[in-house]
Amino acid sequence: MASSSVSVLILSIFLFLFSPSPCNAQTSFRPRALVLPVQKDAGTLQYVTKITQRTPPVSLNVVIDLGGKSLWVDCDNNYVSSTKRSVRCRSAQCSLAGNGACTGADTCVAFPENSATRVITSGEVAQDVLTLTSTNGSNPGRSVTVPQFIFVCGATFLLEGLARGAVGMAGLSRSRIALPSQLSSAFSFHKKFAICLSGSTRVPGVLFFGDGPYNLLPGIEAGSSLTYTPLLINTAGVSQGENADEYFIGVKSIRINNKAVKLNTTLLSFDSNGVGGTKISTVNPYTVLETSIFKAVTEAFITEAAAMNMSRVPGVAPFEVCFSSENVVGTRLGARVPQIDLVLQNSNVVWSIFGSNSMVSVNDDKVLCLGFVNGGSEPRTSIVIGGYQLEDNLLQFDLATSRLGFSSTLLGARTTCANFNFASAL
Ligand SMILES: *[C@@H]1O[C@H](CO)[C@@H](O)[C@H](O)[C@H]1NC(C)=O
Ligand SMILES: *[C@@H]1O[C@H](CO)[C@@H](O)[C@H](O)[C@H]1NC(C)=O
Ligand SMILES: *[C@@H]1O[C@H](CO)[C@@H](O)[C@H](O)[C@H]1NC(C)=O
Repeated sequence: MASSSVSVLILSIFLFLFSPSPCNAQTSFRPRALVLPVQKDAGTLQYVTKITQRTPPVSLNVVIDLGGKSLWVDCDNNYVSSTKRSVRCRSAQCSLAGNGACTGADTCVAFPENSATRVITSGEVAQDVLTLTSTNGSNPGRSVTVPQFIFVCGATFLLEGLARGAVGMAGLSRSRIALPSQLSSAFSFHKKFAICLSGSTRVPGVLFFGDGPYNLLPGIEAGSSLTYTPLLINTAGVSQGENADEYFIGVKSIRINNKAVKLNTTLLSFDSNGVGGTKISTVNPYTVLETSIFKAVTEAFITEAAAMNMSRVPGVAPFEVCFSSENVVGTRLGARVPQIDLVLQNSNVVWSIFGSNSMVSVNDDKVLCLGFVNGGSEPRTSIVIGGYQLEDNLLQFDLATSRLGFSSTLLGARTTCANFNFASAL
């Protein structure tokens, strides 16, 4: 984005004027919320944001990861900063970073993961200046800094499999060193964040830290009509050291065109080892269903689609269930296809998935595929709601009350996640 080099310039002037201590850059201005752009990468289908770190400031592309424990970046290549500090062993920051593991040289270490490839390494825990953009909910506002933002050093090889140009990942989980916790404590705002992913690979969606309003053009407050469901903690998974910080919700059943799909409901809860349940992921491009759930859902969908005169065509990898687009009419909510409802804590709390989030257009729009993939017979998590199903939906994660607010498709409100006005009023 052209504006980022301008803001880096402005920031450099700002830091210059207020040096030596970057703490001073905060002065007395306390933002209500922060805003970051999130761009879908065409090659990997990952969602990439741009953060500004270091002194002098450097703009970095990092892949967002809802389940990620921390911000990690490649420190081996080109990390130049006068403000980077190592986190010492037995410090408060080191215990925040997790298990407080140390190397001989009194350096705190953690285990950054590339969650797209599931590759993990060990890396130094460090702190450096993070510079962010505040918002009043409608426009970007002035820059603010967190002087000692805790992050983990990854390595150059850990970047393999990430979007081109990405130098790390930004963890948004409930971990105490993930971005939501560190930013809300740095600026004393509510421990909430909201994501609104855009399906466009040209116009970014938006990530907010802090409370709303979340205003999208043309004057739609996307946070004003959310439905809420509890965020669940996979406690059995926690004792296994897994899934501790990820976001689970309680899907109780699935309906297609208002008819219940017959499922093995045991798979929808966690078992004593933390296996099962439903989580939300920005790293999976499409929703992944355990194989028996996948079969039940796709069979029901095919039956309903046939009743709507949709004609099946061969699958197009990674999708198994595809239709000719010929008999399918377009609507404001995407292709008119059977509606998929995820039924949550009771039968009135429903996450409805319409054509814009269920059907993926392939082969020059001649074919529409159901954008769900088969996760095999023994996945750790039975349902992983992936990025495509999240696009143009506002999701607000409230860590203090442990609940998720979701908007359903914003296309119904005649806006999209690409409609935050990033044009600065400066
Ligand atoms: C339902 O799933 C559970 C967990 O995988 C399994 O133990 C059980 O046998 C399944 N029940 C049926 C009827 O398939
Ligand atoms: C499906 O096609 C049949 C035969 O062409 C027609 O009678 C029926 O009305 C169509 N149904 C729908 C839902 O379009
Ligand atoms: C937000 O800030 C912009 C730029 O400073 C201003 O034009 C706009 O009126 C503000 N909106 C609200 C809702 O405060």
